[in-house]
Amino acid sequence: MNDQLIIFDTTLRDGEQSPGASMTRDEKLRIARQLERMRVDVIEAGFAAASNGDFEAVKAVAEAIKDSTVCSLARANEADIRRAGEAVRPAASSRIHTFIATSPIHMEKKLRMSPDEVVSQAVKAIGWARQYTDQVEFSAEDAGRSEIDFLCRIFEEVIKAGATTINVPDTVGYNVPEQFAATIRSLIERVPNSDKVVWSVHCHNDLGLAVANSLAAVRAGARQVECTINGLGERAGNASLEEIVMAVRTRRDVYQCDTRIDTTHIVPASKLVSGITGFAVQPNKAIVGANAFAHESGIHQDGVLKHRETYEIMRAEDVGWTANKLVMGKHSGRNAFRSRLQELGVVIESEEQLNSAFARFKALADKKHEIFDEDLQALMNDDSSEPKEHYRLLSSSFHSETGEQPSARVTLAVDGREQNVESSGSGPVDAAFKAIESIADSRAELLLYSVNAITTGTDAQGEVTVRLARDGKVVNGQGADTDIIVASAKAYLNALNKLEAGTERLNPQV
Ligand code: KIV
Ligand code: ZN
Repeated sequence: MNDQLIIFDTTLRDGEQSPGASMTRDEKLRIARQLERMRVDVIEAGFAAASNGDFEAVKAVAEAIKDSTVCSLARANEADIRRAGEAVRPAASSRIHTFIATSPIHMEKKLRMSPDEVVSQAVKAIGWARQYTDQVEFSAEDAGRSEIDFLCRIFEEVIKAGATTINVPDTVGYNVPEQFAATIRSLIERVPNSDKVVWSVHCHNDLGLAVANSLAAVRAGARQVECTINGLGERAGNASLEEIVMAVRTRRDVYQCDTRIDTTHIVPASKLVSGITGFAVQPNKAIVGANAFAHESGIHQDGVLKHRETYEIMRAEDVGWTANKLVMGKHSGRNAFRSRLQELGVVIESEEQLNSAFARFKALADKKHEIFDEDLQALMNDDSSEPKEHYRLLSSSFHSETGEQPSARVTLAVDGREQNVESSGSGPVDAAFKAIESIADSRAELLLYSVNAITTGTDAQGEVTVRLARDGKVVNGQGADTDIIVASAKAYLNALNKLEAGTERLNPQV
């Protein structure tokens, strides 16, 4: 049995389907470059037929990435597949991933198609996809609740039609490890020509079992796992890439296979994704949580000091944890700034973008003595130079005193026109948001407000995420500053700008 486990990352597609996690083309490019650096085998860059924006993003990733296969999702219909084919055409190595639902409930209630019609549509889909690339992946959506005989039948037919990877998704996260492993084992045994394709799994985390199910499937013979950085994804998310990769690497004796991932890029990838999406990583999250390698109890500390392996099964540095790296200060020049950003995988597309980022860096360096990699990443996430900006914070002042009602005064440029307003609130952040709203009158609902310290120390920047919803559209805004009220105002305006810019995405599964 082949001992390479293919890592198929779907952070940019399924991960992006988390409410509020939609990404711009440039953000997708930055993440894709980090995935390539990490040596991910396949990057699912999006769902090209979902919108023009998604098409452009997949195409941009296909043009930029050289060392990973670039894939687009497509429903099993001709228009979707042609769109996916066009989007991935520039890639050095391209794949089309087409899917159709196979469970009785999905076929009957959602597709309103008979099982025969589903098989015939799937076979046609493979034929269209093969006109663009010889890497064609077929997914039986909701395979986790499909009948095994029907799965065998449809997989046999799509393999005959030219599918090269067969993916078995547990779309609703219903399976448990023993049962899922038995399904995979039996498919591999029963489907004719199963040795001619790669068997893949795609597990959702509704019962918290996505990683366990994926690993059980690997034991049963699956040789591709679909996963996301930080386990991002629909509802409770997908299997987390870092947990799969490190489980297989640490327990090669059990899994009898390995990936080609350079694990030292895992933590930077996690930070990049959490910075861009605003989805904070819980401190006790395996591998990438802030406490994942922290030993608190005296007995553990004593053991680790005497002999590291007493309590550590992995080394923090192997997954990319480094002591906070002091990169630059206020005397650093543009070239040092540019090259550090390049090392962090941030692509500077124009001199104008570099100038604006460098000006923000200098302003930050005036307020904060030590600037860490995390600060630079936050600075790039907080790109207020985007041309489509409708609202921009020009200045602000806040007043908060024991026994008095907090107030905020903000001055905004609204499409270049200056407006200022004062408002009070139950706290300074509330006052700032009310002041902004009295200008913007957005009618948006605030779904989430969260603050994270980017580095340690009281002069750390606060990174704020604000999630707003309006008319069914959900967006995340980010802002970073050493003053958390300013960071909050920036995050709120960033979210309003996204609502104005209409960065709405279609959810492929709706
Ligand atoms: O969860 C799922 O079934 C999917 C498929 C499109 C692979 O994301
Ligand atoms: Zn999925």
